[in-house]
Amino acid sequence: MLIETVMRNAGRLFIQCINRARQKLHGITRGKQSNSVLIENPLAEASEYYRLWNKARECSYPTVDHYERDCKAAIETAWFHQLALLTQVVIKRSDLCYQHGRLLYATLVQYARKHVRDHLNIVETGTARGFSALCLAKAMHDTRTTGKISTFDLLPHDVKMFWNCVRDADGPRTRANLLQDYSALINRYVVFYQGDTKEELAKMTFPRVNLAFFDSVHSHEHVMTEFSSINGLQETGDIIFFDDYTPELYPGVVKAADEICSTYGYGKKIVIASSQRRYLIAEKQ
Ligand SMILES: C[S@@+](CC[C@H](N)C(=O)[O-])C[C@H]1O[C@@H](n2cnc3c(N)ncnc32)[C@H](O)[C@@H]1O
Repeated sequence: MLIETVMRNAGRLFIQCINRARQKLHGITRGKQSNSVLIENPLAEASEYYRLWNKARECSYPTVDHYERDCKAAIETAWFHQLALLTQVVIKRSDLCYQHGRLLYATLVQYARKHVRDHLNIVETGTARGFSALCLAKAMHDTRTTGKISTFDLLPHDVKMFWNCVRDADGPRTRANLLQDYSALINRYVVFYQGDTKEELAKMTFPRVNLAFFDSVHSHEHVMTEFSSINGLQETGDIIFFDDYTPELYPGVVKAADEICSTYGYGKKIVIASSQRRYLIAEKQ
């Protein structure tokens, strides 16, 4: 009886976690979408994802171009958009904007050039389909850097599901399978962890975190908890990249990022891609 109750509760907890993760993955907690939480069937034909992709590729982002020029680094355009088709082009109400991939790449290339001999530890919270982890892996590959990207999500890596992406029409698949064309980069640089970052990050023992990218739960409390796990592991010049540093939409992220910068001594570089997408690149002073 007791075992049954424990199993039932554990099962419920697991489903709650997956639901929360899916809500996040499909943009629901960003107030941009009202689709049902669980996607049990593909949301659209592949042709619809291609239409959205073509539209997204037409947009220009002068502030991001400018940032790349400053960093003297820009991700290969064709490679970037191909990855985005698989991992960023989704059905949602708001416009697609995946410029954080370009910014992450440029930021890490610039950093890696200054740390040629170092083994880099990168931490990402919120893997989703793997887009940002792969942009970071590409930066490490292109600069011949050694190191690891540890990326965390509630979502499993090896369970078949629909991802609200162009490949859904062919049936559910694991993230590992979705990203199989990128397996060389992944095997070399990326380690996928499944679990709540509040617990999983605290278990890690990184000697140093050269770059952290916080992109899981967008609340003040959650960002502060994630930061507390890497606090003290960064040296001068190390970086925290905050996605969605957008006061109107994510006041919690902005409050946490500002608090971290002022209390723990980080310089701030803000990039505004659009009214809905702002990013903060914080550098340890
Ligand atoms: C905005 S998406 C991440 C996007 C990804 N970084 C990218 O650029 O493609 C947020 C992700 O955070 C995950 N997530 C939500 N709550 C989490 C938690 N408590 N711990 C770990 N991951 C979480 C969701 O499952 C979702 O995949």
